Amino acid sequence: VEETYIMIKPDGFQRGLVGEIISRFEKKGFKLKGLKLFQCPKELAQEHYKDLQSKPFFPKLINYITSGPVVCMAWEGIGVVASARKLIGVTNPLNAEPGTIRGDLAVQTGRNVVHGSDSPENGKREIALWFKEGELCEWTPLLGPWLTE
Ligand code: GTP
Ligand code: MG
Repeated sequence: VEETYIMIKPDGFQRGLVGEIISRFEKKGFKLKGLKLFQCPKELAQEHYKDLQSKPFFPKLINYITSGPVVCMAWEGIGVVASARKLIGVTNPLNAEPGTIRGDLAVQTGRNVVHGSDSPENGKREIALWFKEGELCEWTPLLGPWLTE
């Protein structure tokens, strides 16, 4: 099954948007498999965003992600990676459509409140990076047949 790593960034946490953001994924019908509040060490932030290490904003990005607690989540579902990216909206919140998380709740790329994996491969990679064994929960939603046929 497809999985994605979703993370509420330190601005989303400090602004009290945790419930609002989680509820959008819950209401959509995806399955939550992992959830924790976490102070991210520099090394982990660098590993997570290693594809961006040559960008001029990389040091700022690492400072941002490690500036306070983040909320780490693993979500599962059919097409969850692309669908979560749609729910989140494009990188620059000023360009993000109303109705998306960034479109509704943020104004700047450097404070865009939430992360979502960009491919199923990265979903698996990032969940393995941010969660230890035993932190993920396998469970059967009773609503399953009402969400998928
Ligand atoms: P993530 O879900 O966080 O990976 O965002 P994304 O996939 O929409 O964008 P991308 O992976 O290209 O960039 C990762 C993060 O780096 C963005 O979400 C921003 O927080 C930050 N970022 C990207 N471009 C810029 C930029 O030009 N300036 C600043 N300050 N931050 C940037
Ligand atoms: Mg990205």
